[in-house]
Amino acid sequence: MAQIDWDSLGFDAYRTRTVVLAHYRDGAWSDIQTTETFSLTIDPFTQGLHYAISCFEGLKVFRQKDGSIIMFRPEKNAARMARSARFLGLPEPSEEMFIKMCELCVKNNMEFLPPYGHQASLYLRPLLFAPHPQMQLVPYPEVTLAVMCAPAGSYYGAHLRSAAAVIPGDYDRAAPKGTGSYKLSANYAGTFVPYKIAHEQGYAELLYLNSATRQFVDEFGSSNFFGIKGGNTYVTPLSDSVLPSITNMTLQECAADFGLKVEKRPVPLEELAEFDEAGGCGTAVVITPMSHIDMKPVLAEPTVSRSFRYEEDGAVGPWCTKLYKRITGIQFGEIEDIHGWCHKI
Ligand SMILES: Cc1ncc(COP(=O)(O)O)c(C=O)c1O
Repeated sequence: MAQIDWDSLGFDAYRTRTVVLAHYRDGAWSDIQTTETFSLTIDPFTQGLHYAISCFEGLKVFRQKDGSIIMFRPEKNAARMARSARFLGLPEPSEEMFIKMCELCVKNNMEFLPPYGHQASLYLRPLLFAPHPQMQLVPYPEVTLAVMCAPAGSYYGAHLRSAAAVIPGDYDRAAPKGTGSYKLSANYAGTFVPYKIAHEQGYAELLYLNSATRQFVDEFGSSNFFGIKGGNTYVTPLSDSVLPSITNMTLQECAADFGLKVEKRPVPLEELAEFDEAGGCGTAVVITPMSHIDMKPVLAEPTVSRSFRYEEDGAVGPWCTKLYKRITGIQFGEIEDIHGWCHKI
């Protein structure tokens, strides 16, 4: 194996040693298998490809200061995958099976787990999809669960930096009562082109509004939104079309531990002007503090109709810094895990 430079890892697909697999067919799960081939044989008619009957999860494994190896809140990812599977009409993996497969993936790819001290981790990506070849639009009780992993850097290296986001006036993410609160592969397909346009303009993130009225903040394309208000309140949107982020759940508890008030409620667009700090949160980045959020009636055109500014480019506010340090400190075993979030392997 080539030597990995733990300090320059990004967040990308990676060819590790083993993928862990299980199949559900004829009313039962197969034994858990592992493969080193990194290729799956699927029928060209597979529902997973044609109709996006597919969902996934993302969670991280950390090597801690004292040498322990932990997964961060895997039972939450197991529950969210079961919920996504139910929405798609697929058989649900149990929590026990989900965690067992994740643990096996770590054990079989141990040489890709970054050592302590590099702000890096092993990202696990469980994928559940319907392999059955079928034209009809009805669920078929067969599913494949594959768990793969990739060593991942901290996005920011040692220093958190703020970035810019844009509200795209001509794109929506998710319909009310639709797929937005499930971690479905399909939810990401519509973000590729707007992300490309946004990145070309120097924006790191897309901030989507609720598609029904466009009066409220929903979430970023790859993370939840939160804002700090009045120096004492953590605010995050309550919406039917937002993914229930495990990082956001964790940050809400960290914020409460710090004595902040936590408000989970609809966040009117106008309120963006009232936050002291704003950020995105998710497993991959933990926190992306926002320098500013621009509104564009048409993403590809130059007009910016409003701009909400929080920090100078790159600068980070005190609460984003405190929250980031707390959550990563617990993950790396530097701060006591009083809530029992770290699942030892
Ligand atoms: C659309 C979206 N929202 C929020 C999140 C954050 O969820 P979590 O904190 O569970 O990673 C993600 C994934 O990281 C996401 O893709």
